[in-house]
Formats: sequence, C-alpha cells, structure tokens
Amino acid sequence: MLRIVAGAAFVCLMAPLALAEEIKLSDVQLLGKRVFEDANLSEPRGMSCASCHDPRHAFQGNNASPVAAVAAGSRPGHFGLRKVPTLMYKAYSPPFGFYKDVDDGKEVLEAKGGQFWDGRADDLAQQVQTPLTNPDEMNNPSLEAVAAKIAVGDYADLAKSVFGADLFDDKATAMTKLAGAVAAFEQSERFAPFSSRFDDWLRGKAKLTELESRGYRVFVDPKRGNCLACHVGKTDSKEPTDWLFTDFTYDAFGLPRNRAIPANSDSKYFDLGLCARPGLDAVLPKEVARDSLCGAFKVPTLRNVAVATPYFHNGAFASLRDAVAIYATRDTDPAHWYPQKHGGVNKYDDLPANLRAGVNVKEVPYDRKIGQRPRLDNGDIDALVAFLKTLTDKGMD
Ligand code: HEC
Ligand code: HEC
Repeated sequence: MLRIVAGAAFVCLMAPLALAEEIKLSDVQLLGKRVFEDANLSEPRGMSCASCHDPRHAFQGNNASPVAAVAAGSRPGHFGLRKVPTLMYKAYSPPFGFYKDVDDGKEVLEAKGGQFWDGRADDLAQQVQTPLTNPDEMNNPSLEAVAAKIAVGDYADLAKSVFGADLFDDKATAMTKLAGAVAAFEQSERFAPFSSRFDDWLRGKAKLTELESRGYRVFVDPKRGNCLACHVGKTDSKEPTDWLFTDFTYDAFGLPRNRAIPANSDSKYFDLGLCARPGLDAVLPKEVARDSLCGAFKVPTLRNVAVATPYFHNGAFASLRDAVAIYATRDTDPAHWYPQKHGGVNKYDDLPANLRAGVNVKEVPYDRKIGQRPRLDNGDIDALVAFLKTLTDKGMD
C-alpha cells in the first residue's frame, strides 16, 4: 500500500514540466515537490533532484553527464558511481532487512528492501539526506546549510504553513521534516500511476500484440525466461499493484565491467554492492556469510525500463536488447560479453576474482554452460523486449 499523507487539503495543479495529466498533491507533497525541483539546493547552485531524476523520463536521467552510465555532479569532473535508478514505484519497497524465506524447502534469511542499489537507506525519507551532502552530487557542506537555503527561498512560507512558523528555528529538525515532505511527494500517485499499456491489458482495456504476448509468456515461464522469479508479478492477479516487477530482493548478476565509469579507471576499485553496504554489520544475521552478498544489487522494477537507459547498476549496456540478451548467452557465449585474459574469458570481471562465488549460476535462465542451448533464442529476446516496452507509463519518453 502506498502511504497517503493525511490531513492536508488536496490541490489540483498543472505540473510546470508540461505533464499532460493533472496530479492531485497534498500541501506536504506539494512542498516536497518544490524541494525536489529546487536547483538552489546544490553547491554551486544549478542542480536539483530532478536534474538526475527527470520527471519526464520516469524520474531517471544523468544530469547531462558526458559519461552516459553515471550522473555528473554539481562540480565539473565529479561523477557518480552507479546508474541513476528510476524513482517510480519505490514507495513500495519495504525497509531494508533480512527476511525469512523458503528456498528448496529450507528456511533462509534473504536480504530485501531499502533504497539505493545496495539498500543502504532504510526508506525514502532517510534517503533524501544523502544526495544533498554527497560531494559527487549536490555537494552541500551540511543538511543545516540546505535548510538555511530553504528558509530564505521562495517557498519558505509554504514550508512554515505545513510544519509551523517555528520550522526553521532548529535547522537539523527542519531538514528532517523537509525530507519527510520529499518522501511524501515520492509516495504520490505521480510516482506510481500504473498507466502503462500492460496495466490497461490487466484491466481488460487493451490488447497485446502477438509478439508482446509471446514476450509475456517467455517472461513468466519458469523454464525459459523465469524473469518473474525476481521481477515479480502474480500471474493469477489482474491487480496492477500485484505487478511491481521486483520483490526488492538482491542478486549477483556478474556483469561485465563498465570501463567508461571514471572510478573504474582504478583497476583495484570494485563496486561490491550489498556486501559493502554501509551499516550492514548492524543488521547482518550470523547465519549469513558476508562474502555471499558480494556483487548482489537490488532487483530493479522493470516498469518504465524502456526509458531507463543505460541498464544495470553499472550502466553496462546502452540497449535494452543487450540487457535482455545477456540473460540468454552470458554463460553459453561468454566471449561475446567479457574481455579476454590470459588466453581465456575473464567472466564476471566487475568483481575481484576471489569474490565471484556469489554470482547466480544456478537459476533459470543463468543455469547454462558453453555448449548448451541458451534458454532463450533470438525470437524470444525480441519478444521479451517488445513485452518490456508495454511497461512504460503514459507521458514518459
Ligand atoms: C547527481 C545525480 C543525483 C542527484 C542530484 C540525486 N540523485 Fe537520487 N540517485 C542518484 C543515483 C546515482 C542513485 C543510485 C545510487 C546508489 O544506489 O548507490 C540514486 C538513488 C536514489 C533513490 C533510491 C532509488 C532506488 O532505486 O533505490 C532515491 C529515492 C533518490 N535517489 C532520490 C533522490 C532525491 C530525493 C534527490 C534530491 C534530494 C536525489 N535523489 C538527487 C543520483 C542522483
Ligand atoms: C535471479 C533473479 C533475476 C532473474 C531471474 C531475472 N532478473 Fe533481471 N535483474 C535482476 C537483478 C538483481 C538486476 C540488477 C543487477 C545489477 O544491476 O547488478 C536485474 C536487472 C535487469 C534489467 C536492467 C534494469 C535496469 O533498470 O537497469 C533488465 C532489463 C532485466 N533485469 C530484465 C530481466 C529479464 C527480461 C529477465 C528474464 C529473462 C530477468 N531480468 C530475470 C535479477 C533477475
């Protein structure tokens, strides 16, 4: 369920960014929107949350970065480390934790939820504070400094009417409240419209083409795509909210290293994902080996995936077709995806050699070896791509 912020009057407004539809936002959500779009909140000024999370682009983008895979920060020469994720449907993520699950009849503890590719923020409100002070993003010296800017900005009165005239007396508390307002905006319908053609198909209001239907069948078939195992939906449900295309769990894909990411020019630098998550020690159950989490990143929703280029946490692929095709031939034709090393193929080369054991090689469709037939043929891949394109919400490009 989306948490709805109670108590505030509903206002109708046309979004300034030429969005076709009218969105209803409460006052606190409207305040959150102002913070989200405020380009005064970076150092130097000029970038907002929306610079990287473009509302017209499923709240995804890269702030016009010269390196497609990672966003440019507020200062020249500063870049992020991971692809900017879409912010749509993120309010559905549970808080980060290790949740009980049953795997092959055995009870296991499975990492799930949180915000960021490694879940290091528990929820949306906590998340807001990070980019504001990240030196490679908005680069403010402190959260208090951000609150001080808002206190003299052009929506200070709105902020005070929502949170009280004394809001800015304590800048730290003010920022916590303002972060809550941004989270409230991110919980609005604007971020979860369920307006894709697939949703209309669920509602019985649209048809899928033959190719898209084939893609759907491959997607849900546990012996072919098996995509549904992680990009979850309930095949017996016509309720769009049962189709988030993720269960917010984590998995190690073993992607090819993206050498275009500036941080990767240091050959000793590896983005280890979940096993290097800040704050993991405090929540890691003793039954779970830390190394088993290396290379694992959160399963992203596939809603709006067609407009969310490039693909995967390291932006390894510019094309959606490649992002799907690697599921078919990662291990049957590794030379196509990975570089050569010492006369062999250096598989899973975005992880150090001693930390590749956690890469998923057991589940369909990853369970193939050289010489075996891939689970998906070229026609299946085209069909999957066509199906994924039905997941784009209205008004996104
Ligand atoms: C310079 C680009 C940039 C700016 C500015 C930026 N973000 Fe992000 N955002 C990112 C990147 C990159 C990630 C993924 C980082 C990671 O997972 O380590 C991210 C992740 C997120 C997530 C987690 C989504 C998920 O899939 O788990 C949320 C929510 C979010 N940002 C909201 C915001 C808000 C709110 C602001 C403004 C206060 C903001 N971002 C500003 C680049 C940016
Ligand atoms: C075992 C779990 C699992 C299965 C099965 C699975 N995925 Fe994924 N998928 C993931 C994870 C985890 C990621 C993110 C990995 C990363 O970036 O490190 C991902 C990422 C993606 C992305 C990139 C999305 C983005 O925003 O960058 C696409 C596209 C995708 N999957 C499509 C598929 C399709 C199509 C199938 C079926 C053929 C499939 N997935 C099966 C776990 C899975």
